Amino acid sequence: MTSHPLLEVDGLRVAIRRQDTALTVLDGVSFAVGASQCLGIVGESGCGKSLTLRAAMGLLPPGIERTGGKIRLSLQPGAAPSEVQAGQVAGRGLAMVFQDSHASLDPTMRVGTFIAETVRRRGGTSRSDARRQAVELLASVGVPDPKVRFNAYPHELSGGMRQRVAIALALATDPRVLLCDEPTTALDVTLQAQILRLLNTARTERGLGMIFVSHDIAVIRQIADVVAVMYAGQIIEIGTVSDVLDRPRHPYARALIDAVPSIDGPVGPFRSVPGSPPDPIDYGSACRFLDRCGHRDTACEGVVNGIDGREAGHRSACVHNGTLAHGLEAT
Ligand SMILES: Nc1ncnc2c1ncn2[C@@H]1O[C@H](COP(=O)(O)OP(=O)(O)OP(=O)(O)O)[C@@H](O)[C@H]1O
Ligand SMILES: [Mg+2]
Repeated sequence: MTSHPLLEVDGLRVAIRRQDTALTVLDGVSFAVGASQCLGIVGESGCGKSLTLRAAMGLLPPGIERTGGKIRLSLQPGAAPSEVQAGQVAGRGLAMVFQDSHASLDPTMRVGTFIAETVRRRGGTSRSDARRQAVELLASVGVPDPKVRFNAYPHELSGGMRQRVAIALALATDPRVLLCDEPTTALDVTLQAQILRLLNTARTERGLGMIFVSHDIAVIRQIADVVAVMYAGQIIEIGTVSDVLDRPRHPYARALIDAVPSIDGPVGPFRSVPGSPPDPIDYGSACRFLDRCGHRDTACEGVVNGIDGREAGHRSACVHNGTLAHGLEAT
């Protein structure tokens, strides 16, 4: 087993082009993911979770581009991660699973054929062997009667079954790291639990690295080892699941976690933290949570950067890090 991370994101900056200006929406995002490790990413809508995954994949939407930082990916077991240039699709090393399985499946193709073609694109596989591997992949993600379902079109499958197929498709690229953007949010709780189990099995059996974006703290508890909290385009806290979810240090992380119903209560999206995040046009150098924080003082108006999530340990970007850790009231 290697000590190299599989994926390293170092000072990632992403900007949206608007006429002559570029609006920075991801600002110095850094983290690393190792073999069999799952990094959970949480944060309010618009904080940059999806763009982080898309930038890592090299699949940013038109008009949005990587303007800084490095993405490094280990393509062979034991190999040090090497740089993926901006604009280059990470390809075989990374695969992505979206909330909406329609985003990855082709409505005009039988699901098995699509998976088999994806297997063949890796090279060195005959047509019949690719078909056999596609059936095996469908079976491995719990699709019943995989030889029959091979011939189904996406619209003939239920939402849960389609999401399994989307995962099989992602695995067909033989990725080293799987990027999951709310893959269970559209599913009911039972299906969600099944998909989480299946992702966990794939991770352990294949030694996959994983990034899992979710609004649901209960889901993050089940699947992640390390949790990063994002706010306004930066990582503002990172640590193990129990560090961050049980002992959050940043007032935003604390408010976000306190806003979630207890683990015995209904599981759902975050209730809102009062106020709203700043518009990217207003991102300055001060703490971006300033206006919503009940603990602000002049120190928060100085330069406050996001944290480098590649370093080990429980850390937060709050200038009061540690001193507010105990007895902090949610704002
Ligand atoms: N295609 C796009 N065009 C213009 N702006 C975009 C686009 N996609 C994202 N943005 C902007 O970039 C910022 C980050 O968006 P992103 O989609 O990464 O957020 P998110 O954390 O994934 O939110 P959600 O929880 O709602 O999925 C937001 O300000 C958003 O409005
Ligand atoms: Mg998103």
